[in-house]
Amino acid sequence: MPQLQPLLTPQEIKDAIERLAQEIQRDYQGKNPLLVGVLKGSFMFMADLIRNLDMPLEVEFVALSSYGRGRKESSGKVEVVRGLHTPIKGRHVLVIEDIVDTGITLSFLLKYLQLKKPASLKACALFDKARCRQVPVPIDYLGLTIPDAFVVGYGLDYDEQFRHLPGLYFLKEGS
Ligand code: IMP
Ligand code: MG
Repeated sequence: MPQLQPLLTPQEIKDAIERLAQEIQRDYQGKNPLLVGVLKGSFMFMADLIRNLDMPLEVEFVALSSYGRGRKESSGKVEVVRGLHTPIKGRHVLVIEDIVDTGITLSFLLKYLQLKKPASLKACALFDKARCRQVPVPIDYLGLTIPDAFVVGYGLDYDEQFRHLPGLYFLKEGS
């Protein structure tokens, strides 16, 4: 049986997202940014974030995979499962990531997008497990720093489960 221990309430997540939205709205006013969400984990964050943004913007998704089924640690190899379907040359691109752990995924994605010559490229992450970082990576808009432990809920999964939970939970060992 999986054991879930509450880490963040839906309200705490909502407050963090409202703050992020204010910062993003201040910086991207009149720029029609392209928000690029990283599937699957960021779908819930993206939906709630853009509902708080009162300005012209566009949404795109890429799908990357670095964990594989049933893993709690990055395999270290990132795969583009679904690439960009829209040109980003000259666009103001903001990557929307659920969580940054080793930094391998975000660092890979930023390099991949930079090659396509956007006008600007920044990253927004809802959760940061800063103590797990293996590759330094800039996070321009950060929601909440969390402890070094595997978490699920609010879009994040373990073996495709628990994405629907509105709060964030530690997934305890032995589950
Ligand atoms: P990184 O490449 O190690 O930074 O891992 C980033 C990706 O791994 C995130 O986009 C998530 O999809 C996934 N991930 C990292 N930590 C967790 C976690 O604690 N729970 C669920 N997914 C995670
Ligand atoms: Mg992810």
